[in-house]
Amino acid sequence: MPAMKPVYAHIAVVGTGAMGRGIAQIAAQAGSTVTLYDSQATAVAAAKQSIAEQWDRLVEKGRMEAAAVAACKGRLQTAASLQDLADCDLVVEAIVEKLEVKAALFAELEGIVGANAVLASNTSSLSITAIAAKLRRPQRVAGYHFFNPVPLMKVVEVIAGLKTEPAVCAALSEYARQMGHTPVTAQDTPGFIVNHAGRGYGTEALRIVSEGVADFATIDRILKDQAGFKLGPFELMDLTALDVSHPVMESIYHQYYEEARYRPSVITAQRLAGGVLGRKTGEGFYRYDKNVAQVAPEPPVPQVAELPPVWVSPRASRRAELYQLLKDLGAKIETGQSPSAAALTLVAPLGFDVTTVAVVERLDPARTVGIDLLIDDAATKRRVLATNPATRADMRDAAHALFARDGKAVSVIRDSGGFVTQRVVATIVNIAADICQQRICTPQDLETAVTLGLGYPLGPLAMGNLYGPTNVLEVLFNLQTVYGDPRYRPSPWLRRRGAIGLSLLHEEESA
Ligand code: NAI
Repeated sequence: MPAMKPVYAHIAVVGTGAMGRGIAQIAAQAGSTVTLYDSQATAVAAAKQSIAEQWDRLVEKGRMEAAAVAACKGRLQTAASLQDLADCDLVVEAIVEKLEVKAALFAELEGIVGANAVLASNTSSLSITAIAAKLRRPQRVAGYHFFNPVPLMKVVEVIAGLKTEPAVCAALSEYARQMGHTPVTAQDTPGFIVNHAGRGYGTEALRIVSEGVADFATIDRILKDQAGFKLGPFELMDLTALDVSHPVMESIYHQYYEEARYRPSVITAQRLAGGVLGRKTGEGFYRYDKNVAQVAPEPPVPQVAELPPVWVSPRASRRAELYQLLKDLGAKIETGQSPSAAALTLVAPLGFDVTTVAVVERLDPARTVGIDLLIDDAATKRRVLATNPATRADMRDAAHALFARDGKAVSVIRDSGGFVTQRVVATIVNIAADICQQRICTPQDLETAVTLGLGYPLGPLAMGNLYGPTNVLEVLFNLQTVYGDPRYRPSPWLRRRGAIGLSLLHEEESA
């Protein structure tokens, strides 16, 4: 038996699809009596059986005691009509994602459940305020947004609509903890925390592809090896499938009145139209053979008989580290004021493109190659070099061969402000900063929601701290100059903290 008395002794789950089943499972495990209801009569029995099978598997794996499972099964009930939910203290709705249908269900439930019962919606994209708007008591309605699969994704967003009583959210949060989940509290805004914070990764990667800077697989490799993401953005989109992720991108973009930061890509719109959805259709950004992605091998390291001497721009980021790296790689380093006629010329800009740097620093573009040093070389598994349109093939190959000498992977991409990692990381940090700016949640809840809900290696603010708030700010300022695009406009929240070198996880400023 669970040690504590559950906050809600008797709950109902309405809508017993993928989400409803998971919620019912963990609620029964927390000690609540759970009544399942679905408008499709067969769905309820199917759900009850599927949850029971889930528990049997947990016993087989030794994760649950047989006696505990027997008790859970005893607490799982089914209802043939909404009227049967009259005794419930909490109803969690996980039905079809349509505002009118959810609002109509809650209106009907209002006439059935007791005065103190809480009505919660698992919606991922609709406004809680709008769902509750026509009810007699909108104070008792809240968002309770779980992630799929519910038993494994141990975070839930608790969302207050405009009229929700704070005590309702506090009780839902406490109940989430009893179910073994971590609650985070979000304002009722498009995408809440996780689906809002997740906008940076895929959309920026798509934009990089749309500029022809690198292909899907190269971008995936770079973000996994440099910034430690478990899945590349294109692998992730293939897993989620574009019929789910593209509409989310569009919805959040439109709900924020076409805010440039969330602008979706024509690449996913077209692939969605063509049915190239991802893993589940056998083809997405990658082709799948027996569910295994077919990835073309990386281009080989060029064979270069004799490497040219190397000169490093005095304005390169992490210049001292770059010199040390070149020494370790056995490069012939030039230390003159300007490069000799034979030298490979290295620049390491933050945000700026290699072309602009070559022009501004009056370097010979034919011999100029850029390297991304936002992140300490020792902390990454891959180096990324960028050419400009005039870079000679022998200089490109020499740089590739030199930086691959110690066996570390090297990607060579075309010129773009901010390479790949700088652009994607800065965009993620900037969107996170804007979530804090809007007071959608606390910085700590943001970090928790993103690490548990999106599986990023670090929360976005911790990521910004690791790479340096000032550096991230510099990347954004320069990207804004290169692209003239408001999507790179730094959030004032980031700008203030970056400008005074403050940790992004610093507690809120005084009121
Ligand atoms: P699903 O399609 O697997 O299940 C929905 C169930 O609701 C079906 O069994 C259907 O018969 C039933 N239903 C539809 N209208 C109903 C009504 N008026 N009254 C009673 N039952 C009704 O859907 P899924 O994936 O479980 O999603 C449910 C909700 O959870 C949606 O609001 C969705 O946006 C949200 N959500 C889904 C996530 C996911 O990854 N699938 C993640 C987070 C939230």
